[in-house]
Amino acid sequence: MRILGIESSCDETALALLSDDTGALVVEKSIVLSQIATHEKYGGVVPEVAAREHLQAIFPMLKKEIPHDGAGIDVIAVTSGPGLVAALRVGVETAKTLAWAWKKPLVAVNHMEGHVYAAFVGAEPRFPTLCLLVSGGHTELIVMRGHGQFERIGETLDDAAGEAFDKVANMLGLGYPGGPKLSKLAEQGHPTAFAFPRALLDRDDYNFSFAGLKTAVLYTLRKNPEANLANIAASFQEAVVDVLVQKTMRAAASVRPASIILAGGVSANVVLRERLKQAGEAAGIPVFVPAFAYSMDNAAMIASAGYFRAQDPANFVDPLTLAADPNLELGGRM
Ligand code: KG4
Ligand code: ZN
Repeated sequence: MRILGIESSCDETALALLSDDTGALVVEKSIVLSQIATHEKYGGVVPEVAAREHLQAIFPMLKKEIPHDGAGIDVIAVTSGPGLVAALRVGVETAKTLAWAWKKPLVAVNHMEGHVYAAFVGAEPRFPTLCLLVSGGHTELIVMRGHGQFERIGETLDDAAGEAFDKVANMLGLGYPGGPKLSKLAEQGHPTAFAFPRALLDRDDYNFSFAGLKTAVLYTLRKNPEANLANIAASFQEAVVDVLVQKTMRAAASVRPASIILAGGVSANVVLRERLKQAGEAAGIPVFVPAFAYSMDNAAMIASAGYFRAQDPANFVDPLTLAADPNLELGGRM
């Protein structure tokens, strides 16, 4: 089976081709066109601008990369939510048009499910698996007992981890996109220079909170205008990683998963990747992290999730009625 994946939920226009022809699921092609240069000057993603850029990019990309008659493609997978509705619509309407014209089945993919399935590209995490899903809009602990089964056992009560990275990066004057810039600066700082708070570690649930940490950084900056910014970045990152890893391992002790998956844009953070792998190793649980290319938004992860959904034709959706859903819940109806 060869599957075309299309992603346009935020500020990357992406398409990918995955195939299982050799026995394993392999990425034949993954193209990501980032809009960072456009949104940088606004300090964040402007939804209408993002949608316009997707519109300009998507058909030239398809024309260049994909056979015009859809030859060799068996299924089309597209992100239908969550995300920016105007941006999502570009991918959804394009996928519907192709599915209708080529007479190919269409599968709708939840963007967050896509992030999880990035870990299934070139690897086979065993079930039950415990997923730490950390992105710009989500911070969740999810137990998967099988494909397509998502049980959320914890989530952030306020900011998502990626959002905290972005906001603190902003306070440090680093601009957009904040996460990668902050973690780069943190490489030159001391992670123990500032003792920032680790919220909710005393509670025995699996929820997170990053709003207090963000405020603590703000007050520290106000009180010490001369503070070394690399030290602040490193200490902030340390606090986030500490909480994410501790809570995940605590959940692992009770869920006893066969594997742990780290996914979402924040999984590109090198310190988080290393720390969770070490913790997993110490507990005897293999940790699966997507390759860097599939950590941030991309379409290979959408094609991967679509591939597993397409194993059951009951998951095919009608190309004439699929609608983008900006608030689509993981495991919800599509
Ligand atoms: O998954 P993603 O690309 O988009 C969403 O679905 O939200 O995640 C983007 C988020 C942003 O908040 C970004 O700052 C964060 O992932 N991020 C990072 C790093 N790279 C991206 N956060 C920390 N360290 C990084 N290296
Ligand atoms: Zn994402």
